[in-house]
Amino acid sequence: MNDESKSTVKRDDLFASPLGNVPRFVFDRAVVDVFPDMIQRSVPGYQTIINLCGELAARFVQPDSNCYDLGCSLGASSLAIRQQIDQPGVSIIAVDNSAAMLERCQSLLDNQSSKTPVQLLEADICDIEISNASLVVMNFTLQFIPLDKRQALLEKIYAGLVPGGCLVISEKLLFEPESLNQLLTELHHQFKSAQGYSDLEISQKRDSIENVLIPETLDSHINRLKACGFESASPWFQCFNFASLVAIKPA
Ligand SMILES: C[S@@+](CC[C@H](N)C(=O)[O-])C[C@H]1O[C@@H](n2cnc3c(N)ncnc32)[C@H](O)[C@@H]1O
Repeated sequence: MNDESKSTVKRDDLFASPLGNVPRFVFDRAVVDVFPDMIQRSVPGYQTIINLCGELAARFVQPDSNCYDLGCSLGASSLAIRQQIDQPGVSIIAVDNSAAMLERCQSLLDNQSSKTPVQLLEADICDIEISNASLVVMNFTLQFIPLDKRQALLEKIYAGLVPGGCLVISEKLLFEPESLNQLLTELHHQFKSAQGYSDLEISQKRDSIENVLIPETLDSHINRLKACGFESASPWFQCFNFASLVAIKPA
C-alpha cells in the first residue's frame, strides 16, 4: 500500500450502531471508504495472500500476455502483481461491477509508477472475455457469484489461460459436518473480536452478508477446478475458514 492510501484509510464502523433492519451488504461508497480496514480486520491472512499474488506474478506472468484481477475492489491484487512484473508487453485487466470501487481504485493505481498498464473494466466478471491470460487472480470474489454461474466462469477462465497459466482463487470456506463449520466460524469471530470488532458489529455484518456471500467447501472448489481441466489444483494457504488455492493449466 502506498503512503497516500495508508493515510486515507478510514476505520470500519459501518455496523457499530444498532441498525434495526440490517440492510443487505453491497459494495457501495460507504464500503469503499472503509474497505482496506474492513478486509484487513475481517479476513485472516489477507495481506499474506495479496503478497503471494505478487510472487506468483513474478513466477508465472509471461511476456506479451494478460493478467486479470477479477473483483478487483481497490486494486490490492493488481498493485501487488504490477510491482513484480518484469516482462514486456503485459497488461493487467482489473474488473469490478462496483463503479464506486473502480473510481477509488483508479486513483490508487495512479499513485504507483510502473511500465505495466492496468485497464479498469466496469463489468460483471461472468460477462467479460478472458484471453491470452498467464495469470488470473480472483481474491474473495467467486463467493459473491451465484452458485449456478460458477462452473461456467471457471471454464471460461481455463479456456482463456495460456498453457502453464496460473489461477489464484481465495475464498471463505464452508465445512462439513456442521459442528466443524461452527468451530471454524467461532474461531473467525474470535479473530474479528481481537481485531477490535464488537459482538454487535460481528452479528450485524453476518446478518447483512448472509445470502450475499455463499461459501462452498474446499472439496467443491477442487472438484470444480479439476472438472474444468486444472489437473494441478491445491490450497496453498488457510487460516480458519479462509483459504487461497492455486490452479495451473497444463503446459
Ligand atoms: C471482497 S471484494 C474483493 C477483494 C479484492 N479482490 C481484494 O483482494 O482486495 C469482492 C469484489 O467483487 C466485486 N464483485 C462482486 N460480484 C461481482 C461480479 N459479478 N462482477 C464483477 N465484480 C463483482 C465487488 O464489487 C467487490 O469489489
